[in-house]
Amino acid sequence: MRILVCGGAGYIGSHACAVLAERGHDLLVADNFINSSPRVLGRLRRITGRPVFFQQADLRVRADVDALFEGPHFDAVVHFAALKAVGDSCRRPLAYFENNISGTIHLLQAMQAAGAKRLVFSSSATVYGDPDSVPVREDAALRTTNPYGRTKLVMEQLIGDLCESDPSFRAANLRYFNPVGAHPSGLIGEDPGGVPDNLMPYVSQVAVGRRARLQVFGGDWPTVDGTGVRDYLHVMDLARAHADAIDYLVGEDRSLTVNLGTGRGVSVLELVQAFARASGCAIPYEIVARRAGDVAQVYADPSLAQRLLGWRAELDLDAMCRDAWRWQSTNPDGYGKAAVEQAAVEQAAVEQAAGETALHEWAALAAG
Ligand code: NAD
Ligand code: WQD
Repeated sequence: MRILVCGGAGYIGSHACAVLAERGHDLLVADNFINSSPRVLGRLRRITGRPVFFQQADLRVRADVDALFEGPHFDAVVHFAALKAVGDSCRRPLAYFENNISGTIHLLQAMQAAGAKRLVFSSSATVYGDPDSVPVREDAALRTTNPYGRTKLVMEQLIGDLCESDPSFRAANLRYFNPVGAHPSGLIGEDPGGVPDNLMPYVSQVAVGRRARLQVFGGDWPTVDGTGVRDYLHVMDLARAHADAIDYLVGEDRSLTVNLGTGRGVSVLELVQAFARASGCAIPYEIVARRAGDVAQVYADPSLAQRLLGWRAELDLDAMCRDAWRWQSTNPDGYGKAAVEQAAVEQAAVEQAAGETALHEWAALAAG
């Protein structure tokens, strides 16, 4: 199939590209690198052994989005492109609404105009806020606690309303819990700019010596050891779910909303211990005050994804830590954004030129 991957240069998108290419699909990646590096594209070419078609596009710009649909018809679109940091969204709510909502509207409008009818959407467990009980099922109450979460919920609603209005439009709404880990090659992985907000990248940077110690936010939660409990899932398992969701949209011709997690809760200290085992590094930590807005425990009931998609998480916490460590230890500065900013800008120009060539090749695919 021909698939448009919006936000395909990002953390989860790049791993999904690796899996989708491995399944033989032709991909066009669209990204504006607002939170990613053009270097991802070269790494993806090394992993897949195939050209990665790329077009620079900012989903906030309708003309950029329309241009993506000028070439061959897409059998499916996967929409990863969003701003995603909770704290940042509290400081810059308008930027989050502008980027996430206007980008999604433009994409849906362009899909509608082009007759592209299948969408896989990156939603989040954030739509459940602080759930009444765990494990969380898809019919749990939706109540977000921050601007980022509200954009995800509005995006789900926009997509749901479009499905209602156009019975031939199909969407797979995938609610991710806590994606971690990296591709087993160590060539792609998570590379947050600045101080990581999330636990696993912070722990990885402590292990590799970029940060002195982890601050554990709260040791007095009503959990197994007093630290927060989450449902961490391997990004390769998550990536596979996107390919399965596309197959479902094609084969079953129905929309769906599913949780993607392991169904197993893991505490902060359990994750720290597993990472220390996998890396052989000490992870110094201190317990500090709770983080504003945090909740005690959130983990998924993933049984609906298993029933509908035949998907279940296969990789355990040790594999998540091992692969995160392989990525971090072989790329201590990630894709090197800070150190080689100029090189990255130059690389972007090269990728843009390659993308233009790729687009001609992409158009040629359709022609013959
Ligand atoms: P990411 O920031 O690494 O990837 C997002 C990509 O989208 C980046 O490459 C970014 O440059 C691009 N992008 C953002 N706005 C864009 C725009 N206007 N135009 C073009 N490209 C744009 O994030 P990720 O962790 O890979 O997350 C991917 C998706 O999954 C997001 O929608 C996020 O909300 C969702 N999600 C992530 C997590 C998580 O913990 N990482 C959990 C649940 C849901
Ligand atoms: C996990 C646990 C922290 C960092 C967030 C978003 C959510 C989703 C995933 C996109 C918690 C503790 C963390 C640190 C710590 N993203 N922690 N020290 O909070 O479950 O979810 O990312 O949709 O929307 O809210 O993930 O990795 O930030 O935290 O002790 O330096 O680790 O308190 O218990 P969270 P997280």
